[in-house]
Amino acid sequence: MTAVREPKISLSDVTLVHTNEERRQENVAVEDLTLDINEGEFLCVVGPSGCGKSTLLSAIAGFMKPRLGTVTMNGRKIDKPGADRGVVFQEYALLPWKTVLDNVAIGLRYRGVPKAEREKTAREYLAMARLSEAADKYPHELSGGMRQRVAVARTLANTPEIMMMDEPFAAVDAQTRLTLQEELLRVWASNPITVLFITHSVEEAVFLADRVAVLTPGPGRLRSVVDIDIPREDRHWDTISNTPRFVELRDHVMKLVRDPSR
Ligand SMILES: Nc1ncnc2c1ncn2[C@@H]1O[C@H](COP(=O)(O)OP(=O)(O)O)[C@@H](O)[C@H]1O
Ligand SMILES: [Mg+2]
Repeated sequence: MTAVREPKISLSDVTLVHTNEERRQENVAVEDLTLDINEGEFLCVVGPSGCGKSTLLSAIAGFMKPRLGTVTMNGRKIDKPGADRGVVFQEYALLPWKTVLDNVAIGLRYRGVPKAEREKTAREYLAMARLSEAADKYPHELSGGMRQRVAVARTLANTPEIMMMDEPFAAVDAQTRLTLQEELLRVWASNPITVLFITHSVEEAVFLADRVAVLTPGPGRLRSVVDIDIPREDRHWDTISNTPRFVELRDHVMKLVRDPSR
């Protein structure tokens, strides 16, 4: 018998609308979306540019309220941002005048954790991200890939219940991107919290996810949710492309993203 996983986040018939006050325009970004993100799962959302992925993240982060439907976390309605939901953006949003260590410790500082304790915690998360050597460096001294790993360490150091990532690796080169994906899975294995990962790359989604939610072109509706039953120990870029199941799932998800008739 498999354990029943409780939903961490529940989206129920959610419609998200952007309003442009000046031009009095309304833009429906996400329509009638129902989706659960289960406790401890790695869920990827894919869909073409403009289909509402970032808007969906905004609603869960509490930056935006649904026009229709409800968004809940642990059964309670989300109505504002909170430290229980950590967000990693594509632009790393590190503070350039602070060291890597201070960047990772910053959330703890806002929460009033004493200096010695927050530095100890920050060092633990840096070690987990294999960044101990970079603790005293400044963001501009790091590569894009390293900065993104710092951003992940900083988010995890705040011990959120869900980590949300919006195309976090889109700005790095292709090779670094593969390394970062493997690295993220390694870090997540030692810190297995609920993850919502947004990407427009089907390959990335299938490589990382427990489940992939495919959105239709905007306004985004849920087209399909695909279970990725590839064992975690097989998720390495040097071998995965030769794995028939990976190829099969990738092609299946690709078709769902591309073919509007499905
Ligand atoms: N702040 C905003 N004001 C008005 N429209 C917006 C705003 N942000 C996004 N949109 C629109 O909402 C739709 C979904 O955008 P977005 O969620 O950014 O898509 P994605 O992340 O999938 O590329 C698009 O049509 C976009 O133009
Ligand atoms: Mg986006």
